[in-house]
Amino acid sequence: MLRGRDLLSINDLSPEEVSLVLDTARVMKQRYYSGERVINVLPGRVIALIFEKPSTRTRVSMEVAALQLGATPLTFSRQELQLGRGEPVKDTARVLSRYVDAIAARVYSHRSLEEMAAYASVPVINMLSDEEHPLQALADALTIAEKKRDIKSVKIVYVGDARNNVAHSLLLVVAKLGGYIVMSSPRELRPSEKYWKIAEVTALETGATLEYVEDPREAVRGADVVYTDVWVSMGEEEKSEEKKKLLKNYQVNEDLMSLASNTAIFMHCLPAHRGEEVVEEVIEGKWSVVWDQAENRLHVQKAVLSLILS
Ligand code: CP
Ligand code: NVA
Repeated sequence: MLRGRDLLSINDLSPEEVSLVLDTARVMKQRYYSGERVINVLPGRVIALIFEKPSTRTRVSMEVAALQLGATPLTFSRQELQLGRGEPVKDTARVLSRYVDAIAARVYSHRSLEEMAAYASVPVINMLSDEEHPLQALADALTIAEKKRDIKSVKIVYVGDARNNVAHSLLLVVAKLGGYIVMSSPRELRPSEKYWKIAEVTALETGATLEYVEDPREAVRGADVVYTDVWVSMGEEEKSEEKKKLLKNYQVNEDLMSLASNTAIFMHCLPAHRGEEVVEEVIEGKWSVVWDQAENRLHVQKAVLSLILS
């Protein structure tokens, strides 16, 4: 179903395709734990990974995912390519398409991914843009399903900057899966209209419930999942002081977690800023599933690469 396709947004996937990715990721994970380190479904394939911004999890888990599928990853920072000296994205996309089987990119502007996809003749995968982080959201959905069984029967609350890449993709993935998500943020940092509308349209089809609640204490009441992300995303450094001021009441601390269900889990895509969006006691506490969440990036990306490329 996904063969040969781009993955720029969670909205590129139908609800059935989101479920297919998650089911395939479960198989990948199970086979990995039964000792099958290499599942040779992509022999001889080459995947270019381009990073305009730093990365730990995405870079390493994508490289390992490719290697464990028998493919070869080639990783570049923007500066290492002629892109860094002004070669147009559309030229880079067409040239790389003659050498590699897929291009994955982490970019400042979502538009450059769209341009890359328009010109590349191989699939283009979003490894984070200013608008979305689809691979993260798919791993998050897998983690919630593992920890809570059915994603449809839990209350997921995202607290903090609800207008960023991670928040948008989480909102869409929960909408695709017919779940219940509450976005809690200052009004200025509500999910963008564009993503809220896509989620609403999706919810009509899947029966998902979407809510916006400004007050984080009210939002978190009875939550099964409390999710947060950094207050200042990469590329927003000049807005740092303004955003920290806006978000100061949205810190996930023990007091806020005490309002959630007593079996609630805490999630964060990482990297985390202790003392800002989350405190040490929560990220290191009984609620935290952040390491399992980070691990699931690997299994989900193996699923995505194998479905798109095999
Ligand atoms: N969560 C995530 O994408 O982490 P990195 O920035 O380390 O890739
Ligand atoms: N919103 C964060 C996510 C990092 C994985 C950022 O864009 O910096």
